[in-house]
Amino acid sequence: MIKKLSGFLLAITLAFLAIAMFGSTTEVNTDLVIAEMLGNEEMLERGKYLATVGNCAACHTSPGGSDMAGGVAFATQFGTIYSTNITPDADNGIGNWSFEDFLASMRHGVRPNGQHLYPAFPYTAFTKLTDTDTAAIFLYLMSLPPVRQATPNNELGFPFNQRWLMTIWKALYFEPGIYEPDESNSEDWNRGAYLVEALAHCSACHSPRNFLGAEETNLTMAGGVYSDEVSGGAVREWFAPNLRSNDAGLGYWTHEQLTDYLKTGKNSLVETFGPMNEVIMKSTRHLDIEDVDAMTTYLKSLPPVEEASREVAGNLTMGRGRTVYNLHCGTCHLPTGLGDMEMAPRLASGSLVVLAENPASLINVILYGPERSELPDSWYDKMGEFQYLLDDDEIAAVATFVRQSWENPGGIVTAEDVARQR
Ligand code: HEC
Ligand code: HEC
Ligand code: HEC
Repeated sequence: MIKKLSGFLLAITLAFLAIAMFGSTTEVNTDLVIAEMLGNEEMLERGKYLATVGNCAACHTSPGGSDMAGGVAFATQFGTIYSTNITPDADNGIGNWSFEDFLASMRHGVRPNGQHLYPAFPYTAFTKLTDTDTAAIFLYLMSLPPVRQATPNNELGFPFNQRWLMTIWKALYFEPGIYEPDESNSEDWNRGAYLVEALAHCSACHSPRNFLGAEETNLTMAGGVYSDEVSGGAVREWFAPNLRSNDAGLGYWTHEQLTDYLKTGKNSLVETFGPMNEVIMKSTRHLDIEDVDAMTTYLKSLPPVEEASREVAGNLTMGRGRTVYNLHCGTCHLPTGLGDMEMAPRLASGSLVVLAENPASLINVILYGPERSELPDSWYDKMGEFQYLLDDDEIAAVATFVRQSWENPGGIVTAEDVARQR
């Protein structure tokens, strides 16, 4: 392995020299050369850390599968896309790739054979990585054991199976380029912005997308719809809530509450469940506290977006909702909605899932129960599923009740909303 790596380092150096000589548009980084001289262990460590921030494993390692061997299925509105093998296997992975090849995929979403990649691979975020950080990730991937595992063929209908069409998509929606620091903000803020935007890709789920699947840049982090497994394994729509400073967003959370949530999976308001388990368990909780702190500084600085005016439920719906709540929820979440350290998190001001503009995730929790993370069990009893106990009207009423009680500023949930999640 050492031998392979040193040859490989030479290749990287040569690649950079070539870039320098032929005047490519990419940044030429002397840091990289310095890092190599310091010894590649440090570079490897950095690569491993950055791969953790980017959570490559969440998408490229299937449950029970080999590290980074790909084959994870992504259900999109256009069909199913499989993540690829990014181990250094020559036939199935990136074993024959040069650093330039890798940089082209991460920064431009292009394969060595010229094919365009789909943005299910978040290169729309990774494009913002510096050359040095991209090189560190490449070094790390190349140090992993190669795995002989072919990537399944995508199941995309026409015309979405035509990769060349991505040129049009890219021309419309993709701006390649390294993160540019914002001089009017602190170094800490910029570090946080770089980590969140270039690597942690929170916006891949937390931003609305247009009909062609592109993130709506003016509404970055204002909440987005995305498909994933619910507790029990079926794939359903989820809503990743607004992370701007709205009342139905991160506005209510303090800096400390957000840092605790990302670093430990838990804070004084909520505990992680569902799709955030992967984000927190595989990525954010392993990060240096300074980095989590910087990410929080950046996230908490995002200004609120304009919210649609909400409809207020009538007494009949609220009355029905209260009855269902007192019978099925109040023992754990308490009649006050304030929750209890041993029984259940609070539902009164604090849970973004409760308040989210789109109630899909709230309905999933009620229908299927919250999918527990691998954190040690801290609750007295786990919340079960209500899909067989309550009908659509009852779930709509109780969901509306928790969204509009205790000064919660959420909207109405209808029986149709619930039916869509069944
Ligand atoms: C949200 C899921 C997701 C995350 C996170 C993710 N990838 Fe991927 N990646 C994919 C998918 C899906 C594809 C296949 C895209 C396609 O077929 O067009 C892919 C493709 C790639 C490719 C192109 C491989 C080829 O054979 O053309 C590379 C390289 C890659 N990813 C590297 C990474 C690295 C490095 C990270 C972490 C920094 C990462 N990915 C994180 C989903 C992801
Ligand atoms: C793979 C998609 C995905 C990614 C990536 C993602 N999120 Fe989420 N997030 C969700 C979904 C879906 C929910 C609602 C259900 C849940 O909590 O799992 C959510 C919920 C949240 C909540 C509210 C939790 C609560 O219980 O009220 C916060 C805060 C949050 N995410 C922050 C982040 C941050 C910060 C990042 C980037 C480091 C991030 N998310 C990345 C999908 C994602
Ligand atoms: C047996 C106790 C119990 C009952 C009954 C119960 N829950 Fe829960 N609930 C929990 C626990 C524990 C969690 C935290 C799970 C986790 O994060 O691991 C939770 C989580 C939640 C969440 C996610 C909050 C967040 O953002 O983190 C919502 C929403 C919720 N419950 C609503 C309800 C509703 C509505 C009912 C009644 C239909 C209900 N629960 C019944 C124990 C209960």
